Amino acid sequence: MKAITNAKIMTVVGARPNFMKAAPILAAIRDHNHRLSLSQDTPIDTLTQIEFENVLVHTGQHYDEAMSDWFFADLNIPKPDVHLGAGSGSHAVQMAEIMKRFEEVLLRHRPNILIVVGDVNSTLACALVAAKTSFDGHGARPLIAHVEAGLRSFDRCMPEEINRILTDHLADLLFVTEQSALDNLSREGIPKHKIHLVGNTMIDSLLACRQKADLSTILDDLGLRNGKPHSKGTDHAAPYALLTLHRPSNVDDPQNFLNVLNGLDELTRSRPIIFPAHPRTQKRIADFGFERFFHRQNRVGDGGKPCTASANGRISLIDPLGYLDFLCLMNHAELVVTDSGGIQEETTSLGVPCVTVRENTERPITVQVGTNVLAGTSVAGIRQAVRQQLESKAKGAVPETWDGKCAQRILDVICREIKEQQMF
Ligand code: UD1
Repeated sequence: MKAITNAKIMTVVGARPNFMKAAPILAAIRDHNHRLSLSQDTPIDTLTQIEFENVLVHTGQHYDEAMSDWFFADLNIPKPDVHLGAGSGSHAVQMAEIMKRFEEVLLRHRPNILIVVGDVNSTLACALVAAKTSFDGHGARPLIAHVEAGLRSFDRCMPEEINRILTDHLADLLFVTEQSALDNLSREGIPKHKIHLVGNTMIDSLLACRQKADLSTILDDLGLRNGKPHSKGTDHAAPYALLTLHRPSNVDDPQNFLNVLNGLDELTRSRPIIFPAHPRTQKRIADFGFERFFHRQNRVGDGGKPCTASANGRISLIDPLGYLDFLCLMNHAELVVTDSGGIQEETTSLGVPCVTVRENTERPITVQVGTNVLAGTSVAGIRQAVRQQLESKAKGAVPETWDGKCAQRILDVICREIKEQQMF
């Protein structure tokens, strides 16, 4: 039997889009350790000799049940070892709060590797703390691994763009989802040996959960079953569109928000639009007095009966959904309209037409080969993109590495790196 060495990974999550990106990595670590425990009496290859201790840190950037807890349950993510409870605030306050609380945790645990995912404030805050820390007074610090590196919208008004650029330039290992990301990083002078085109862990989660998501009763609960009896399974879904909007540029300015709603007017009149709205978006609707555009729908109507999705030309607004319910709704939608980054990729993987209500995308592969159309944010642009997508029957293609095996590739690279650097 060969000697087993230990290495400590610290994985950070904080906001909703982090959870589906981190879950497969946590599962891959569990599987790796399990395989190692089974192979203790037999010779094993050099890459599998490292046993990982994983410390899961939740910054608390998102804290509502619907924005956090449900995702832990749906994605089978273990309870965080550390919860920082940082909460909301301005960007500066939120980042400062996370950094202050995270530094103490990092110094206490002294991990060999820090994994941060995506582009939210928690991602940058924790990478920045790790990059400047010193465990021994001589600069010893964890290797920083950034999952979903290199994406660029080239729009520095987006807080996420700032987070992406800075995190990438702090990271030691950069895991990318598409060729454009690799090209962006090379152009910015990041050495090639740090960059690994591994695929998309969010698609790992999607492929792992797709079957389970089809057991969701969300279509029945929202009256989208096309007159068929209330039952599990997803056959006979009525045609409906799914909408998500939460980007500050779209919802924080009343005129911009109005443009999006006007751009969707034809769609609203022709089929139900289901709109699980982010808390900030719900707040803006109330602030701007936009309630008239929406029909407030609960998941199940009075007396526990399914709701009707018919909303008399208004958009059906519901509270945010958990991962499996949302995946089910996305999978069976005729069209998805969104300003989210991740949903552009998920719809490409599912072959569902997507209209992105933004001027740019940091995920160009979803437009080049997938099912995404960039609508811009003008009324005419949105109407045109919706028409185009409803008429088009093209299914698009899925990038080769979005195959459900990304997390394992990431762990293989981490194992190699730890051995090369003899970090134990
Ligand atoms: C954050 C990410 C964004 C991501 C989005 C997904 C940054 C800069 N932005 O934006 O990239 O697409 O998450 O949701 O990190 N709120 C609640 N409950 C919660 C969380 C937030 O009510 O659990 C409300 C608070 O009023 C808060 C506001 O939503 O001030 C915004 O939350 P915040 O985490 O600052 O940014 P998001 O808009 O969620």
